[in-house]
Amino acid sequence: KKTIRDVEVQGKTVFCRVDFNVPMSGEEVTDDTRIKAALPTIQHLTGNGAKVILASHLGRPKGEVVEELRLDPVANRLSDLLGQTVTKTDQVHGSEVDKAISEMENGDVLLIENVRFHPGEEKNDADLAKAFADMADMYVNDAFGAAHRAHASTAGVAEHLPAVAGFLMEKEINVLSKALKDPERPFTAIIGGAKVKDKIGVIDNLIDKVDHLIIGGGLAYTFVKAQGHEIGKSLLEEDKIDLAKEYMKKAEDKGVNFHMPEDVIVADDFSDSANTQEVAIDSIPADWEALDIGPKTREKYAQIIKDSKLVIWNGPMGVFELETFANGTKAVANALSETEGYTVIGGGDSAAAVEKFGYAEDMDHVSTGGGASLEFMEGKELPGVALLNDK
Ligand code: 3PG
Repeated sequence: KKTIRDVEVQGKTVFCRVDFNVPMSGEEVTDDTRIKAALPTIQHLTGNGAKVILASHLGRPKGEVVEELRLDPVANRLSDLLGQTVTKTDQVHGSEVDKAISEMENGDVLLIENVRFHPGEEKNDADLAKAFADMADMYVNDAFGAAHRAHASTAGVAEHLPAVAGFLMEKEINVLSKALKDPERPFTAIIGGAKVKDKIGVIDNLIDKVDHLIIGGGLAYTFVKAQGHEIGKSLLEEDKIDLAKEYMKKAEDKGVNFHMPEDVIVADDFSDSANTQEVAIDSIPADWEALDIGPKTREKYAQIIKDSKLVIWNGPMGVFELETFANGTKAVANALSETEGYTVIGGGDSAAAVEKFGYAEDMDHVSTGGGASLEFMEGKELPGVALLNDK
């Protein structure tokens, strides 16, 4: 794909989609990782004399104005990070936006209002896409985190303008494609999280590519059940037991090392103050629920990670939001920080976990996309990427 490096931006007005869908508490941006991740693109554009119109969604306002989801706090934080004024409009498009654009000088930055306040955004409405395109000479997509959405500002607008990738988009795509197409070996994927149903696509796609597949989190217990063990009150997706068996068989046939928890932490309640026990995987008591992997499993998984040349992580090993059940996820994050292999953290919960436990800096790549990185790892072409111009 073409990137901002391949185009002349001097004097051009650029409509740049970013993913500033950041965690907020009231008027406060509580995590500005995604804003910081877009700075290289914004600064390249301003530094080379473009007028930069930024667009993002925040939350899911469903086509209506929701006061708490206005982008003003984001504009303020961006302004601090850039060290320059960021003009913010209360409109997504219209006369206020047109006026603000007409007053821009080369190097200026404007942020339009949360694009999801407009009902046309998520419908990829043709008129809205055209209205975005009419604001600018060129489209830059740096919103990897929203690239799995075919919306007016992520897809439709690209049909009307020269469309190129920003640096963050480029980096996300390069890292993830290299991992999937030409991985260093041993290549290990760690798949966790609550539900098998959310990870079917990624297991399907990775099972042919990896040397080791490590399973953890709530979804592991459907596999444990499929192995013939009792799982007490642990999470179970009855209708996925056969699929779990199929995956284990497929892994065996293909010579992929399929790793399952050997011991777990069980609790009598879903809370930090629950009574807990460490038990072997074939000894989960009937009234108890497994909420984390146990110490033997932690050690085994850590060793595999340390012996790998490439590791992709998607999904926590246990209920890491609760201190009592965070050790499995912590152990994986710690092993990733120590391995000499290349480490890729799929966004969402795994990114939140490495951040929470202080390991984010030690990772080679922490994706800014949750759903987007998952869909990429499923082998799908993302709509926000598909429409960008080829080199
Ligand atoms: C994300 O946070 O994963 C992206 O910003 C996409 O948000 P969405 O799931 O509301 O489309």
